[in-house]
Amino acid sequence: PQTQINVQNVIDSTNQFIKDMKLAPSNGYVCLAEAQTAGRGRRGRTWVSPYGASIYMSMYWSFPGGYQAINGLSLVIGIAVVNALQKLSVKGAMLKWPNDVYIQGKKLAGILVEAEGQMGAACNCILGVGLNIDLPDNGITIDQPWTDLKQATGLQINRNLLAATLIDELIKTLNTFEVEGLKPFVNQWTELDYFYDKPVELLIGKNVLLGKVKGINHDGALLLEREGIIESFHGGEISVRPA
Ligand code: BTN
Repeated sequence: PQTQINVQNVIDSTNQFIKDMKLAPSNGYVCLAEAQTAGRGRRGRTWVSPYGASIYMSMYWSFPGGYQAINGLSLVIGIAVVNALQKLSVKGAMLKWPNDVYIQGKKLAGILVEAEGQMGAACNCILGVGLNIDLPDNGITIDQPWTDLKQATGLQINRNLLAATLIDELIKTLNTFEVEGLKPFVNQWTELDYFYDKPVELLIGKNVLLGKVKGINHDGALLLEREGIIESFHGGEISVRPA
């Protein structure tokens, strides 16, 4: 029978590992690695992936409904990550649109969804999660404020238990999402929104928009209040508005 969890030592990227598989795996298939030599983040960034310091995990899932069926997918993965942390008594993890996990105002985990599919066919997705557990204090440069579970909680979290809990939460979440879409998750997402009601800058291409975050809509778009009017945005990147 096909394996369901594939644990690698050092590889380029767990997302790439699944992409390179000759036969499409079944839904819920997982690749985990101890280190990545070419870990990737969103927007072409590198994901710093030192040995044994984090969870580097990718899960495969195919959505028969095609591209329109994955609207909001990366947002619900954020919820699954926060729920897994809560199950292990890690409190205070929140979300930054579209899909960063924050704790104490710094980035704890990142999510990278890579999708492929033809028009009218299933959409095959690779869902990558990088979750910092105990990164080395020196020798790494990350272009944004980050933290790890050890710093943020003072606890030494059992990595296997966290990986298992994360897999369990992801599968539950994806089963619901596949049938019901984003709708059942919108309220919880908004409750976990770290930037809710905060003034931010939204960078879209070369444009910077100022506004106050108001959660997400049923499509997963960011809601931003500008001069008393709430508008929705499908792309862009949020940052805290400088004082
Ligand atoms: C981000 O930019 O915030 C997304 C980071 C996603 C990193 C994870 S680590 C496991 C998986 N494999 C990769 O190469 N990237 C994702």
